[in-house]
Amino acid sequence: MPGAVYLETFGCQMNELDSELVSGQLRALGYQFTPDPEAADIVLYNTCSVREHAEQKVWSRLGELAEAKREKPAMVVGVLGCMAERDGVALINRMPVVDILCGPGELDRLPALLDNAVRTRRSLASESPEVMRAHRRPVEERSAREVALQGGASRRSSTLAAAGDTLELLDLSRSISPLDDDGPVKRSAYVRITRGCNKFCTYCVVPFTRGAEIHRPPEHIIDECKRLADAGVVEITLLGQTVNHYRFEHASAVTVGGVVQPQKGRAFTGGHRRDPLAGSQVTTFADLLRRIHDEVPSIARLRFVTSYPRDFGDDVLEVIRDHPRICRYLHVPAQTGSDRLLKLMNRGYEVAEYIEFLDRARAFLHQPQIGRPLMVSGDFIVGFPTETQEDFEASVRLLERARYKNSFIFKYSPRPGTIAIDKFEDDVPEAIKRERNNTLLGVQTRLSHEISLEQIGLTFDVMVEGLSVKERKRQARGQIALTVHGKAAPGPLVLDTTSPEMVARTDTDLIVTFPCPAAHTPEALAGRILRVAITDANALTLKGQALI
Ligand code: 5AD
Ligand code: SF4
Repeated sequence: MPGAVYLETFGCQMNELDSELVSGQLRALGYQFTPDPEAADIVLYNTCSVREHAEQKVWSRLGELAEAKREKPAMVVGVLGCMAERDGVALINRMPVVDILCGPGELDRLPALLDNAVRTRRSLASESPEVMRAHRRPVEERSAREVALQGGASRRSSTLAAAGDTLELLDLSRSISPLDDDGPVKRSAYVRITRGCNKFCTYCVVPFTRGAEIHRPPEHIIDECKRLADAGVVEITLLGQTVNHYRFEHASAVTVGGVVQPQKGRAFTGGHRRDPLAGSQVTTFADLLRRIHDEVPSIARLRFVTSYPRDFGDDVLEVIRDHPRICRYLHVPAQTGSDRLLKLMNRGYEVAEYIEFLDRARAFLHQPQIGRPLMVSGDFIVGFPTETQEDFEASVRLLERARYKNSFIFKYSPRPGTIAIDKFEDDVPEAIKRERNNTLLGVQTRLSHEISLEQIGLTFDVMVEGLSVKERKRQARGQIALTVHGKAAPGPLVLDTTSPEMVARTDTDLIVTFPCPAAHTPEALAGRILRVAITDANALTLKGQALI
């Protein structure tokens, strides 16, 4: 029996997808999953290094596991993802409770590592007292040390690198089941189109942990979309760190073992104009979007994240405009409104170019008069080294000008392994970072509120996700009240006649709540696309009534 696995995911959507693929592979090998870490024989953390906060959570979890391992010396602990790749064996030296390290570029090797680690731990746990005495450290403090990292080879640089990219096999192995673990049909899925990143923004660890940009072959991507659609998925989100840079040159594709291997990134040459090479030998991002839209018609919504503000060609904007099932939502991080800081961050564009892009995107795609607005969201970093009040005010101005529907605002956190940590002193005091963070959040909340209020009176097709968080809490409270101390609560039972509150999303990624209509059950509505009239709004959520 391979044992029960608890897998917890930290960080981004890319990690969520990696975790899904890893669990599919392990399930196929007979591993069972448990939502309860205490019931697990194998604990895996799929980690993120982008910001310090996510790492701290993992460190504290690992500290708790050291206790648990004293009780269960055969337990296997694995750290997957970016923390494993960046810290390497130093992580095991600091936390010997860790048996497995597996970087994001090596996840296809996890089953083998896990198998070895399980055997090693079992044999350690059954050591005789003499053998145990011979070791200086008790069983629970010895790691099985199964390690798979890209290490120095993380920038897969040789021309044959693509052929060696067995990671494609992990994406190809995706076990697509129409059922989620907990029953309902899965309606929304991620599909990776590009791995890694070639941008080297100075604050960012991703190019070092996820390696060079590699584009997956379009045939693999379209086939995966078709299989997901056949299994009941209606919404697909294409994933890449710089998703609009997708570009696959067919002539240079390599075939290994009957599988077309992805290729390393080539510099994007499209600009605002059409790509001169585009055509039969090249699949650009615009081509890929068009092909998925046309070849997988049962996908009602096609999304993509994250876009890079440079080199976003008109060809992509035209495809979005002309293909109704491609969502009019762009997540395009600007990071700062200061040209000086954009240079220090190595972002490769100036504020004026960013604004030019936004204006161009809106000219193509913002058509509220026909019920098809464009919504944009962004990311900002406050307190990047040397950020002055003036730089910060430029970020406030850009946020106002960009009119994001929402933005993700982060305080700069120096990350080991990045360019910025070596080059620049983290010289903006924490209190100022916090204050700037709050100021930007305040401006964003006001903008979000204004944008929400503009939606009142309009109707949208929304995709129903299920019960709202508020509703789930309300129902959980109801259950707790009825079973105080395991017994039925005293007092008369009051019949709850409130309709359950449902949550859904517009194609522009606005959140909408609405009462479940009396003739329908929440379960039956989940995953459906409904028309909803917006009647009220606050900064975060629109409220409406379903028109069915
Ligand atoms: N500090 C703060 N924020 C960061 N991000 C990436 N690296 C850092 C860092 N070192 C933010 C960027 C990016 C998002 C995913 O995380 O805004 O767009
Ligand atoms: Fe990091 Fe910049 Fe690449 Fe985004 S584009 S993953 S911020 S290096």
